[in-house]
Amino acid sequence: MAGGEEKRQLVRYLFCKLDPIWRRQSMDKQIEQKIELSDTIRGFQAKCLLRSYSTMGTRGDTDFMLWQATEDLETLQALETAIFSTRMGAYLRTPYSYLAMTKRSIYEFPEDPEQDDQIVLTPQDSKYLFLYPFVKTRPWYKLPQAERQEMMSEHVRIGRKYPDIRINTAYSFGLDDQEFMVGFEGDDPGEFLDLVMQLRESDASAYTLQDTPIFTCIQMSLWDVLDSLGGASVSELARAAERDAEGFVAVATLGELAPGASKRVYNGADAIALFNVDGTYYALSDRCSHGRASLSEGSVAGDGCTLNCPWHGGMFDIRTGEPAGGPVREGIKKYRVKVEGDRILVG
Ligand code: FES
Repeated sequence: MAGGEEKRQLVRYLFCKLDPIWRRQSMDKQIEQKIELSDTIRGFQAKCLLRSYSTMGTRGDTDFMLWQATEDLETLQALETAIFSTRMGAYLRTPYSYLAMTKRSIYEFPEDPEQDDQIVLTPQDSKYLFLYPFVKTRPWYKLPQAERQEMMSEHVRIGRKYPDIRINTAYSFGLDDQEFMVGFEGDDPGEFLDLVMQLRESDASAYTLQDTPIFTCIQMSLWDVLDSLGGASVSELARAAERDAEGFVAVATLGELAPGASKRVYNGADAIALFNVDGTYYALSDRCSHGRASLSEGSVAGDGCTLNCPWHGGMFDIRTGEPAGGPVREGIKKYRVKVEGDRILVG
């Protein structure tokens, strides 16, 4: 439903490692510092897309990763300066950092429009993100376009066997050391492993120069990421403080959601699609129960009651979350919504 011109985004993957000495501080200091760092990062949520992932338990040389996307480099720089200006920032190192940009693919996949790389990133909020920098050999670029297209089509055909794995490719040529940043979202690490093994047998694989280091990142709310670092726990404390007596939490302002608009918002780890249908607000789970489409990118039919999924024609009753047509069989969660002053709250 988002309208207007789409601008290309800068994409950054910032990996941080916490100095273990930080955990020797008192519990009070740990709580204060986690709250300060979280507030600092969350202060940038209106300026850029931010997703947080833990790499605790998946890699030894990094603890967490922030996936950022915005339209200008200065926002990325300001965010990093702000992070390292906090008290906890003094204990953080950046073992890896990757910069890239969105760009439409030069290859065509008419049977798989979802393979068309996105100009504006729309993460699917899968449980895991499998990420690596990627460089092709120079002979690849000397091949005729038709030959490369054929090899890329084979790649996509193999990927189609794993419909629950979704690829996000960003381009780094001239901006950073790698050529691409390749991210796969999925809920099953085994499925991703099987896909990668199959891709090794493809013709295009012979033209890979580098595709390491590989990161298995676990998506979590920022509070949960901070708690995964160990030390004093803040996530429950923070969630309780944000909720009112009826369990509602503010997720947007009226100005952010004009009539006819939709927006993806978060309540803890839940991604929620928020709609303004002629002044009535609805909040439903953002993920379609059929595939993995983001319903905040769907459209509301003229009847004001039917929400159309952007992918396969699935329909839901926007008032209840019940299926209303197309391939969807299960309903989606509906959230309570209320407006207080200029704030929209869900619960
Ligand atoms: S993902 Fe929504 S209908 Fe298929």
